[in-house]
Amino acid sequence: MPNASDLKARQTAAVPGGVATKGIYVAKAENSELWDVDGRRFIDFAAGIAVLNTGHRHPHVMAAVAKQCELFAHTCFHVAPYESYIRLAERLNAAAPGDFVKKTLFLNSGAEAVENAVKIARIHTKRSAVIAFSGGFHGRTLLTLGLTGKVMPYKRGFGPFPAEVYHAEFPQPYRGITTEQALADLDRLFHGDVDPKSVAAILIEPVQGEGGFNVAPAEFLRALRRLCDEHGIVLIADEVQGGMARTGRMFSIEHSGVVPDLVTTAKGLGGGFPLSAVTGRAAIMDAAHPGGLGGTYGGNPISIAAAHAVLDVIEAEGLCARAASVGDRMRTRLLALARELPCIGDVRGLGAMVAIELVKDPKTREPDAALTASVLAHAEKRGLILLSCGTSANVVRLLAPLTIPDAVLAEGLNILGAALKDAAGVPSARAVA
Ligand SMILES: Cc1ncc(COP(=O)(O)O)c(C=O)c1O
Repeated sequence: MPNASDLKARQTAAVPGGVATKGIYVAKAENSELWDVDGRRFIDFAAGIAVLNTGHRHPHVMAAVAKQCELFAHTCFHVAPYESYIRLAERLNAAAPGDFVKKTLFLNSGAEAVENAVKIARIHTKRSAVIAFSGGFHGRTLLTLGLTGKVMPYKRGFGPFPAEVYHAEFPQPYRGITTEQALADLDRLFHGDVDPKSVAAILIEPVQGEGGFNVAPAEFLRALRRLCDEHGIVLIADEVQGGMARTGRMFSIEHSGVVPDLVTTAKGLGGGFPLSAVTGRAAIMDAAHPGGLGGTYGGNPISIAAAHAVLDVIEAEGLCARAASVGDRMRTRLLALARELPCIGDVRGLGAMVAIELVKDPKTREPDAALTASVLAHAEKRGLILLSCGTSANVVRLLAPLTIPDAVLAEGLNILGAALKDAAGVPSARAVA
């Protein structure tokens, strides 16, 4: 098998530089561990960017996929529909928040789910404007880039973006943006930029992913719900990163008790196979004319089979409760590290979606992107895969599979502690030994 440096050279020659990657070329993976082509072992705290909530190659998911491959791999649901698609829609309709009749449409990626949620909100309301939030991330297609509130690396140079997209402040207490200020910003938008009666949808990640694991306070989500009710606006919860048990509930918005009209899911839904969905009020979901929604691969039978297995595993293995306990262990360890290391300005998140914000000085809270990059590099050297996030690239996010064994989780957290100390220039027990 070629080694990592051969592959890096071939990648540079064959794949555009815009497709940024880490230097870990995977050979195999199992649950929360991964081995590269050079035989190095890594603990995986990235989970394919919040996809592998059920771990790499969960046996139930693999068996479901293998079984489906023996029947048929693709027909296109529009050409020859299949029961498994309908049954998965029924399961998501039952699981999504809201005591009303729901329907579900399947697509391939998170971006496609968000695009379709906006299409559905527009045709239902016969309005065009959409409000999203600063720091939000909704995908890399042109509409979803327009909705995304983070310039680098996503938006720079790729405009113009679709019209009628507005951004309001997302509450961020650590950065001094209170719920009241964020609501005042929406009010400013409604008075200065866009008539609320022209707004089709308000789109929000209840816990921002790429934006830095900022958790929307329940009172903010409740206020959005009231505004949507008052003005006939569709409330869309983007659960692409925070959904599928990651935060300790099936959908992260459930922590607030707020019921959105539409929910987008992807990532963890397919357990490693590409699948996304829009689930929501039947009266809204049914607004589009026949043929207006769908696509060649949306709800591909193999991904659908994987998703059924994912839902079975979440239930059978109690992954919502497991997310809460994984998150508690992470938080306890990170808070202890924060007491030792002043560069950790904030520890935040919900369930097993936990992050630390790194700063140059805890008083000024100036973001430290260089330190963040160094922590990731040291962690990788020591055998831990980590991701950064945040609009200033100074947040380290932890997204371990929810199926991670306790011993592997503890080992990963030890490595993270050592990597933080390596990067901050503080001797750690392991670094000294
Ligand atoms: C909240 C959120 N929405 C949408 C997307 C886009 O998903 P995809 O990359 O599958 O298009 C992402 C991806 O990170 C996301 O985190």
